[in-house]
Amino acid sequence: MEQKRKISLYKKIRRDFHVRVEESEKKHRNKIIALALITLLLASALLFCAALLEKSTKGQYVYYYGDVEQKIKAESETHVVDFIALADFCSMTKEVSINNASFEINNTKASFTNGSDIVKINGISIKMPSAAAIKNGYCLVPLSILERISHGLNIVTDKNETTIQIEGKIFMIAKDFEVSYETDVTEYLEYIHSKDEYIYTLVNKQNPVDRTFPEDQDALIEIPEEYRKSDVIYLHYIAEKALEAMMQDMFACGYNDTYVTSAYRRYDKQQQIFDKYVNDLVNQGMSYNDAYAEVLKDTALPGQSEHQTGLCVDLTTKTIVTVDNRFADTEVFAWLQDNAWKYGFVLRYPEDKVNITGYSYESWHYRFVGYDIAKIMHQTGLCYEEYLENFGDN
Ligand code: DAL
Ligand code: ZN
Repeated sequence: MEQKRKISLYKKIRRDFHVRVEESEKKHRNKIIALALITLLLASALLFCAALLEKSTKGQYVYYYGDVEQKIKAESETHVVDFIALADFCSMTKEVSINNASFEINNTKASFTNGSDIVKINGISIKMPSAAAIKNGYCLVPLSILERISHGLNIVTDKNETTIQIEGKIFMIAKDFEVSYETDVTEYLEYIHSKDEYIYTLVNKQNPVDRTFPEDQDALIEIPEEYRKSDVIYLHYIAEKALEAMMQDMFACGYNDTYVTSAYRRYDKQQQIFDKYVNDLVNQGMSYNDAYAEVLKDTALPGQSEHQTGLCVDLTTKTIVTVDNRFADTEVFAWLQDNAWKYGFVLRYPEDKVNITGYSYESWHYRFVGYDIAKIMHQTGLCYEEYLENFGDN
């Protein structure tokens, strides 16, 4: 009897155990199903969000000006950039009205007109691939135009061309546009546009040349008689050809009493000039030291004169004869201010750059640097030392 009870108790325990195991397995299965369902749900939600996001970012560009983000709705195929945001990033001064937006930076200017595909860069008209849109606090212009009207911007676009990172120090420069000349200067254009390394030679108080400079003396050629008054004057052949084009146009404009009074000078010649000026002042009663310091303001010591490169000329008129700043009051000077750059020449010692060039204002001294550099210097108002500092890695 006792034995029978034990067996039935044993059976009950086994039955209960099976029931518990079955229940536990069922629970476990349910958990897995629930987990799978949750995972599925989450994945669908995620896919949905991604689709939404893609939909919301499609048709818009994300710009980064440094760290500042800006999203712009793309209304056409043309990539546009908001010039106002760009101006803020680059600390340009800006003037925005309903129809016009003007920006200024480092003495260079850009002006856009609402609905017009012409942008004025430093007064020069440049055609854009599409019109500017000035509205709702934006000035939207084609992104591609930045390459043609500015220098110093680093524009990096992602592979989808939707994220555009903009960095850099900017200058507004009109790059490709038509230039007109007074006469047919075709034969001189290759010299005006020369990219020969020699034409970039920098000579100043910090960058002297030695007695034997330039090595290639054969490169120095005579300036035609009609552009000088008496003595033979030499110039490097590239600068000389460009000078002929400039003088030809200058004469065509009626300034035919202008002539070259000095160009290439040998080391010894520069020494003679310097000594003569010092002696003149000493003879007028000045101490030698004072005279030396005075002459040093506008006359280079031998080795430190750009004239030794054969890349510059001193101009005067038959009325003035000497070289002095009366030249700045002549009409031909005004003409040179507007036009010298077209022939690759620049005013080398401007009035407001004395601290940088190291020499007094010389309205008569023009240096050949070639068309590309002269164009940038003309538009920016930078002197050659400043040009090299800001654009030298070009
Ligand atoms: N007058 C210029 C600075 C020269 O002597 O080269
Ligand atoms: Zn000079």
